[in-house]
Amino acid sequence: GGPRGGVARSVKKMRGYLAELIHKKRQALPDEAAPGEDLISGLIRASDHGEHLTENEAAAMAFILLFAGFETTVNLIGNGTYALLTHPEQRRALQTSLAAGEEGLLATAVEELLRYDGPVELATWRFATEPLTIGGRHIAAGDPVLVVLAAADRDPERFADPDTLDLARRDNQHLGYGHGIHYCLGAPLARLEGQTALATLLTRLPDLQLGAEPAELRWRGGLIMRGLRTLPVEFTPAG
Ligand code: HEM
Repeated sequence: GGPRGGVARSVKKMRGYLAELIHKKRQALPDEAAPGEDLISGLIRASDHGEHLTENEAAAMAFILLFAGFETTVNLIGNGTYALLTHPEQRRALQTSLAAGEEGLLATAVEELLRYDGPVELATWRFATEPLTIGGRHIAAGDPVLVVLAAADRDPERFADPDTLDLARRDNQHLGYGHGIHYCLGAPLARLEGQTALATLLTRLPDLQLGAEPAELRWRGGLIMRGLRTLPVEFTPAG
């Protein structure tokens, strides 16, 4: 029971759905040489030194890609749009640069939106392998550590005016995609999706406005992911 039970049930359902999909696709795959177009066929066919993923492994991989790759990008686009709509001067600069056919500001803009209000606030759990002291805190071997990426991305010792949204910011080594060995596998795809979505939105709906007071907006709960439940907007339909 309770919310955790709800999550567990949904995870189970989703895994069941993916397992069934993979099973069907595997039966439908004609032969190894025929190139299937979709990701799941690709996962089934993928091999490393002749070893293939089992259906279970392929389902786990599809699950990770879906969870790590979908909600994150949704909230990059949502939080990013919200930040643009509440910073009219920055938004105008980006719109002007897009209208001039420039790409430069778009690339730094998406990085800055990730730093300023990215979708992943915390890294996944880490456990200390040996005792250590960080920032005057003692951490024993085996202790869990939750790294707040969003706090690091507003660190005044690292970023000039960290609370200011500056779409042209160049010195911007943010931690929005994590760091080190677990650095986001999908970062190049997420960058491309964010750039494509925001450029298309601002170009097609140039008069896009927030459709509610910022204080009325509701943010989703939960520790790891930051995003709006809904983002009401107003615009003049084309035509
Ligand atoms: C704006 C979008 C995204 C953000 C902000 C983001 C953020 C992150 C972060 C912070 C981590 C590291 C977590 C940790 O160290 O505990 C991570 C890992 C990962 N991401 Fe993303 N991600 C995004 C999009 C994607 C997409 C589109 C995919 C796949 C299509 C993806 C796949 C993964 C995977 C598989 C990992 C685990 C890598 C590993 O543990 O070695 N992510 N992501």
